[in-house]
Amino acid sequence: MKKSGKMRIIVGNWKMNKAPAEAAALFSEIASGLTSDCCRVILCVPFVDLLTVANLAADTEICIGAQNCHFDNEGAYTGEISPAMLNNIGVNHVILGHSERRKYFGETDETTNKKVKLAIASGLTPIVCVGETLLERELGVTDEKISIQIKKLLNGVLTPQLENLIIAYEPVWAVGSGRCIEHADLVHVCKVIRASLSSLYGVEAANNVPILYGGSINSQNFTDLLSIDDIDGGLVGGASLVAEEFLKIVNCT
Ligand code: PGA
Repeated sequence: MKKSGKMRIIVGNWKMNKAPAEAAALFSEIASGLTSDCCRVILCVPFVDLLTVANLAADTEICIGAQNCHFDNEGAYTGEISPAMLNNIGVNHVILGHSERRKYFGETDETTNKKVKLAIASGLTPIVCVGETLLERELGVTDEKISIQIKKLLNGVLTPQLENLIIAYEPVWAVGSGRCIEHADLVHVCKVIRASLSSLYGVEAANNVPILYGGSINSQNFTDLLSIDDIDGGLVGGASLVAEEFLKIVNCT
């Protein structure tokens, strides 16, 4: 538990890995090794694993999330999955605006904003990703990039709806690269995120929004990042696919 009394949150993003039988095995290994009771674990698994894993999670404290959803709840959208469908099978979280969705599937702040609003309205908690590219960091425009993204992604989201929203700060250059952010840089960006939220919703509401860090987290580097006051947890990619490593990360909270 944080000093503020807020629950820590650790999200595992399995990306496009693990077929249902493998997913069930990994889920069971994680579920049986959890010792931290001051941490909410959310496993975001491929669509085809959701039913299997949501059924297994029903008897546990683990929450299940998807890695994407559509911006409409039904209709002629071949190949898409709606927030209402996810909610219907016991999924309660969804990652939105991940840099891999932007890079490979052309997602923008505008389409992600529509998804964020519909996800909340459909009973899901979106884990909304923001982050600068390496070029933006080198040009010194990280702060502007993050605050513009927050404004665009949360456009039309009302103050009470912030209770069902998580921000994940994932520098694009840190995702899957083995290069984690420096402590001082993360402290700074968290302040930018809080200030952006405050300017939109006021200080109190802004302070209650959980902020996660994501990008090459492992059991070695995470304890230091978690000591930052403004950090409420992590979004873990590669390291969430190995139960032993993921459990070390979760159980250090
Ligand atoms: P990584 O991925 O931990 O493998 O860098 C994080 C993410 O993409 O959410």
